Amino acid sequence: MAKIAIIGTGYVGLSSAVGFAHLGHDVVGIDIDKAKIAKLSSGQSPIFEKDIEVFLKKSLKKKKIAFTSDYSKVAGSQFVFLCLPTPQLDNGAADVSFILESTKMLSRHLKKSSTVVIKSTVPVNTWKLVKENINRDDVAVVSNPEFLREGTALQDFFKPDRIVVGCTDEVKATEVAKLYKAKKAKVVFTDNTSAEIIKYASNSFLAIKLSFVNEIAAYAESTDANALDVLNAMGLDKRIGKDFLKPGPGWGGMCFPKDVSALKESAQERNVPIPMLDAALESNLKAQLRVVKKISDALGGSLKSKNVCVWGLAFKANTDDTRFSPSISVINLLLKQGAIVKAFDPVVKHVPHLKIDVTSEIIQSVENADVIVVLTEWQEFKSIKPEIIEKWVKNKIVVDSRNLLDKSKWEKNGFRFIGNGYN
Ligand SMILES: NC(=O)c1ccc[n+]([C@@H]2O[C@H](COP(=O)([O-])OP(=O)(O)OC[C@H]3O[C@@H](n4cnc5c(N)ncnc54)[C@H](O)[C@@H]3O)[C@@H](O)[C@H]2O)c1
Repeated sequence: MAKIAIIGTGYVGLSSAVGFAHLGHDVVGIDIDKAKIAKLSSGQSPIFEKDIEVFLKKSLKKKKIAFTSDYSKVAGSQFVFLCLPTPQLDNGAADVSFILESTKMLSRHLKKSSTVVIKSTVPVNTWKLVKENINRDDVAVVSNPEFLREGTALQDFFKPDRIVVGCTDEVKATEVAKLYKAKKAKVVFTDNTSAEIIKYASNSFLAIKLSFVNEIAAYAESTDANALDVLNAMGLDKRIGKDFLKPGPGWGGMCFPKDVSALKESAQERNVPIPMLDAALESNLKAQLRVVKKISDALGGSLKSKNVCVWGLAFKANTDDTRFSPSISVINLLLKQGAIVKAFDPVVKHVPHLKIDVTSEIIQSVENADVIVVLTEWQEFKSIKPEIIEKWVKNKIVVDSRNLLDKSKWEKNGFRFIGNGYN
């Protein structure tokens, strides 16, 4: 079993820390956020993520995991994983300052011949800057990008599709790969720079795919076709694949928008622009605007003083993460056009800087609503009974941007039902 330090205990760091501890490694999680450290040390998860608190409590009990803000505690660890934020700068590029500051602090505490593993999503050649900052010949730097999805983070940690390990030192690369004990996962050994690009290229490809899907949905709506049939049939082609073929209110979250922008900036800086990324970003904004237009059209062309009930604030189901959530973007567009928005989300009860009423009960959200809008694909919404809802709303209209609800059930109860990708 290895001794592992995880720097940054956010969505990626905490999932990895808890995952490695469950596999039997001795883990120390280090974060500058002292309140987070106190919470984690008492067995409480600061994030909503399936099973994470159960696994956290178990590992704390077995003394397999500990949390601190003290960087000197990395001294006992053979492997130090960087799970730090790389947010978007104003110019679209990735901000690697968290990585650089942290590695400067880290260097003097690192154990002899230890390995620093970059798990954060970082632009090309960040590994070289990390190496420079650490400035120690005995310490290896391995690029090991993370692919977990919020909502299924632990499942993805234990059963990843692939593990990418970028480092030209084969021994160090193999040691890192072995930590995961993931027998079925395909391990891709490569150089550091390729590993860095694999992450950006993967996320950008998925974002482009979703943008295309939303454009096909818009196009199908302008005809008599049903985009859901079109996309379903497309997905039967193995070359296309059935995943990521659902129309929605645009893509978002903490990864896709910033990763697409960062790759775009990096490519432009190198004089090899990737225009498809510009198109995907523009198309994504159009997808959000299209949802707003659907709502406005359903209400006769104006949103002014209309009561819009929104279901779903998280950027996807099964997470509490609202960072760059398309729901929030759509809500802001609705507010701009004068709508009064009330929202319900099974997990999110507050969104910083968003001045709307977030209700604790679903019924409160629909009271006096002119329209109900589904923006996040929480499965809970499927079981909501239109026959109960109808008593509370002003207008019986549903705009389902995720095609989540059972259209016929709502129509049977007299609701006008507007889906995404068909008329
Ligand atoms: N969230 C995801 O789904 C996901 C998936 C794959 C990859 N990634 C990438 O992983 C990285 C981390 O993302 P995240 O969503 O976990 O971020 P996050 O914001 O949830 O967590 C980052 C943590 O780092 C801590 N931190 C900041 N500066 C620090 C420092 N100097 N020392 C110690 N701790 C510090 C913060 O307090 C926070 O707890 C990013 O590069 C992201 O792009 C994220």
